[in-house]
Amino acid sequence: MHTASRGHRTRRRVLPVAVLALVAALAVSAGATARRSGAPRAHTAAVTISSRPFGTTTGGKPVRVYTLSNGHMRVRITNFGGVIQSIDVPDRRGRMADVTLGFPKLGGYEANDVYPQPSGGSGSTYFGATVGRYANRIANGAFTLNGTTYHLPKNNGPNTLHGGPNSWNSEVWAPTVSRTASGVSLALTLTSPDGQNGFPGTVVAAVTFTLGRANALTIHYHATTDKPTVINMTNHSYFNLAGEASGSILNQRLMIPANRYTPTDNTQIPTGKIVPVAGTPLDFRHFKAIGRDITSPFPQLVLAHGYDHNFVLNGSGTGMKLAARAIDPVSGRTLAAFTTEPGVQLYTSNFLQGELVGTSGKTYRQSAGFTLETQHYPDSPNEPSFPSTTLNPGTPFNSTTVFEFGVTR
Ligand code: BGC
Repeated sequence: MHTASRGHRTRRRVLPVAVLALVAALAVSAGATARRSGAPRAHTAAVTISSRPFGTTTGGKPVRVYTLSNGHMRVRITNFGGVIQSIDVPDRRGRMADVTLGFPKLGGYEANDVYPQPSGGSGSTYFGATVGRYANRIANGAFTLNGTTYHLPKNNGPNTLHGGPNSWNSEVWAPTVSRTASGVSLALTLTSPDGQNGFPGTVVAAVTFTLGRANALTIHYHATTDKPTVINMTNHSYFNLAGEASGSILNQRLMIPANRYTPTDNTQIPTGKIVPVAGTPLDFRHFKAIGRDITSPFPQLVLAHGYDHNFVLNGSGTGMKLAARAIDPVSGRTLAAFTTEPGVQLYTSNFLQGELVGTSGKTYRQSAGFTLETQHYPDSPNEPSFPSTTLNPGTPFNSTTVFEFGVTR
């Protein structure tokens, strides 16, 4: 293994303790940030979690949707695919809106992950989903680990995307609810069998969603394996801070603290180079409207039909750091993402075609939302110079991302 990768792996081993400390620190700072930006003060309303049936899969499995609420923010998550179905947060006048794209019913999520995909539509959108075993692309559906080459089904042109077809985003996860004095959690676990979609090793994966009194959703990922394999987990929520189905996000403002990004070939596989954003439309180091440069004929934007790129976060490593901030100047809603991951994929819904009917009964078109997929870099199993995504027995995968909401005047 490459030396840099080995160093990275070693740092991962100490992560659980570091993560707990960082999450605790962040919860405090989250409240502080929200107050600075004009959000309601941390309040004393009870933090609650409840659930109700969300239908039965075509395979006959009953599914539930869980509602986590702190009186100011409400998150709905289903154990189908670990999908965040909705996030309701207040604007600067206290008016609530759902700021994520989704489907109103289980059938919408199931129908959107058929394989092979019919041509001409929006494709599998992964609205709100927990994505694994390998989020983002693996080139030519193959990678070599410890001298063995593994072949995966190709579900995105010549490549494998988001773990391949019918992956973790459309499985029924086992739920566990917990309540503490400071918040509520929904833990979802899944056993992915050895050889699932071609990946080696039985992986036991868990994703835990926690809501406390501050308007911040913490997502913690954990995974173990019984054989060396690869792992890259993320959440695939599409945000629209003006509200789901309210139109384009192009006037919403975004900042990503990344000096560099990983350019791709025309099948969206990284070339292996890590290059500066300076002087390109990918420079989000200072807030700008998402749409300001999106129509530039810059070749990377042309081939992705907009932003669909992995940013190399400054200060990469496994410590918790800022991944992005976004502001909707009209409603005043703000979003800050923090992560232990080294990268974030910004995707501006480039391939939404307008035929999918979303949560509130309206269709979603191009630019209806933006994702902030905190992750390791795409195609890392084939790029030895990227931080390693190898998961070995005895060394669990741990990763944390926080989505914190507030308002600005
Ligand atoms: C990918 C896009 C893809 C979308 C939905 C994103 O993570 O980067 O290229 O279209 O997921 O599948």
